[in-house]
Amino acid sequence: MTIKEKFDTMDYGPAPESAAEALDWIKGFDGKFGHFIDGTFTKPGKTFAAKNPANGETLAKLTQATANDIDAAITAARTAQPKWEKSGGHGRARVLYALARLLQKHARLFAVLETLDNGKPIREARDIDIPLAQRHFYYHAGMAQLMDTELPDRQALGVCGQIIPWNFPLLMLAWKVAPALAMGNTVVLKPAEYTSLTALLFADICRQAGVPNGVINILTGDGAVGEMIVKADVDKIAFTGSTEVGRRIREATAGTGKALTLELGGKSPYIVFDDADIDSAVEGLVDAIWFNQGEVCCAGSRLLVQEGIADRFYDKLKIRMQTLRIGDPLDKCIDVGAVVDPVQLDGIKAKIDANNEGEMFQTDTVPETGCFYPPTLITGLSPASTLMQEEIFGPVLCATTFRTPAEAVEIANNSRYGLAATVWTENINLALDMSPKLKAGIVWVNATNLMDAAAGFGGVRESGFGREGGWEGLSAYTKPKGKAKVLKQVEAFEGDDGPFDPLDRTAKLYIGGKQARPDGGYSRGAWGPKGALLGHVSVANRKDIRNAVEAAHAAKGWSGTTGHLRAQILYYIAENLSARADEFAGRLNDMQGGKTGNDEVAQAIDRLFTYAAWADKYDGQVHNVPIRGVALAMKEPVGVIGAFCPDDVPLLGLISVMAPAVAMGNRVVLIASEPFPLAATDFVQVLETSDVPGGVVNILTGSHSELAAPMASHMDVDAVWSFSSSDISGLIEKGAALNIKRTWVNNGMVRDWTTDDSHVFLEAATEVKNIWIPYGE
Ligand code: NAI
Repeated sequence: MTIKEKFDTMDYGPAPESAAEALDWIKGFDGKFGHFIDGTFTKPGKTFAAKNPANGETLAKLTQATANDIDAAITAARTAQPKWEKSGGHGRARVLYALARLLQKHARLFAVLETLDNGKPIREARDIDIPLAQRHFYYHAGMAQLMDTELPDRQALGVCGQIIPWNFPLLMLAWKVAPALAMGNTVVLKPAEYTSLTALLFADICRQAGVPNGVINILTGDGAVGEMIVKADVDKIAFTGSTEVGRRIREATAGTGKALTLELGGKSPYIVFDDADIDSAVEGLVDAIWFNQGEVCCAGSRLLVQEGIADRFYDKLKIRMQTLRIGDPLDKCIDVGAVVDPVQLDGIKAKIDANNEGEMFQTDTVPETGCFYPPTLITGLSPASTLMQEEIFGPVLCATTFRTPAEAVEIANNSRYGLAATVWTENINLALDMSPKLKAGIVWVNATNLMDAAAGFGGVRESGFGREGGWEGLSAYTKPKGKAKVLKQVEAFEGDDGPFDPLDRTAKLYIGGKQARPDGGYSRGAWGPKGALLGHVSVANRKDIRNAVEAAHAAKGWSGTTGHLRAQILYYIAENLSARADEFAGRLNDMQGGKTGNDEVAQAIDRLFTYAAWADKYDGQVHNVPIRGVALAMKEPVGVIGAFCPDDVPLLGLISVMAPAVAMGNRVVLIASEPFPLAATDFVQVLETSDVPGGVVNILTGSHSELAAPMASHMDVDAVWSFSSSDISGLIEKGAALNIKRTWVNNGMVRDWTTDDSHVFLEAATEVKNIWIPYGE
């Protein structure tokens, strides 16, 4: 070919990256790996093959971990943890910094090994995966350094079990290991069975970085190993992977007291308005869905184009798709590499073959051998079609059109997932109007798939809970300082009903701003310590929960009100409670037989003031991310929170739970103290006179154990909290697995309600949404 001909076609020549160094590293282990436990590699055991998906060749043999291996790793991690934590923020920062430096030094080796093992284009491994992994260690070296001064009330959780997927093997390891270590935890990590090699290389560099033995342990193997780690004696499980496995892990850890974060699937919308810079939006799609072969949890896999430009947009997109280069991932000019494994490839094919809706366009340039799937566009799908709803996790873009911004929001939010969303428009008003309306943990404006250690990553709905990165990511690896004490079940006093009273004085439930009789018609007596009948309260059932949740949903306008207004209402509640302080104090003393009623009422009023104060001050942040833009970390309400209030402090407890939730714009369904419910039913009158819109606060009385499961499994409840003295933490966590809702339960441990834990409550009452917007040059 002459230079002129080359110039005319602008064809790429081959630009292969050498695999020699990576293959030599594997050879250094004789091609067979054991686990990394307590600072050394164990002898290989029963092995399975690690294959290169681009050509099917076996790269190495890996060991399937046994129960004994898991015990050994956990023992090593448990033994190493106290010393690691005590080494102090600076000591840990130095180790994390050394890891970052070594990742940088061996960047090329890591990138090539990742590409060989996973099939992703070397360009992406080299320019995205490995630099982002380094950045995560640098960032968290800083977090370790700052922990002592900035998080003086927090301590490490202990030993963390971490289970990661195959799509970003080293990057996911970095997201898990760096914050855990920074906060003084030790880890037992299992990479995905398809892609364990960079985790083993990382283990190798841990020895050079001076990571103390036992601080990082890496076990290889399949889902069965993951299952064993979940059941083992760990203090936390951090999981990234499919929603199905995440749900199973939620069920398996329910009631065990193990902390849990789940980063699961997505079906993220990519919304293009008719005023968008179309060429940029088309190019953005290349990064949204053909980056990493579409094997990205936050991939922009659902394209929503405004109707007027749809045809033009699809035409341009098809032209661009034909220029995507698919093939040998080690070639530096390749855009789309190999799918991770034949199993995954078959899964993609099966999903596409099963579809008979819309029109499909595929490029025809796929290599004949290896795990390759052509970039695919399917247009004309209805929003409800399986392909628009289910994760494909491959290079397949599903598209539909919309007419108005409102319709775009509706289609975008018509998903069980809520990980990310992308908005393309040249109209800043429109972009910033859309951003809060999209149900997602991340919104990118005129960009896509941006990630950084400073901006927490994670979703809402069935995309999981917890954030990775940023300040908010640290709470997932810490707990409050101090030793928790066991909470004893608080029993109601008994008595008899006395003479029949023809007037029904039963305290009602409070639903949607109205007092309501319980659906079942049941009530029970409430007696003082000497058996005096103090009143009757309603016994709520499953149907009452449904009604209360419905009312809370209908009050969604509350989430859009200003912090100023919410503060005013909380102050007003405090004022009205203050006016009846003596009456409430008397009620508390009568119910519990103590003399602390006055103190409890005073503290409850103080707490209302605290959250009124925070209502307009618990602001988000602006992250200076290393791109041409900023990430606005906005604090949004979680939605509808169901909360089981503490039994032992009937008024202060209820207010300490209600006030932060409503201050942040949530609506609540509160289940009052079970043994001492009358302070809550009296409080209804305070709410009724304090301008609280109907449905924002709903109060039910009844059995905590009977109401726990219906509350936790209700699909329209976004979070469930429990501070009950009944043993319901496990019931709640199990029920919550159904739609992966957030839970915050006491696991039978005491909380001191007299101390002001406002930051912990405010954090639980909000969800951080990171909105990435262009900024600066
Ligand atoms: P997966 O969820 O089965 O695997 C992820 C990790 O969990 C791996 O390390 C695996 O060994 C482990 N694992 C599997 N079963 C387990 C169990 N019962 N207990 C504990 N750990 C377990 O994902 P898989 O099968 O590899 O991919 C299936 C689908 O999941 C993909 O097609 C994709 O839709 C989705 N996925 C989503 C990811 C994300 O980042 N959101 C990442 C990987 C997969």
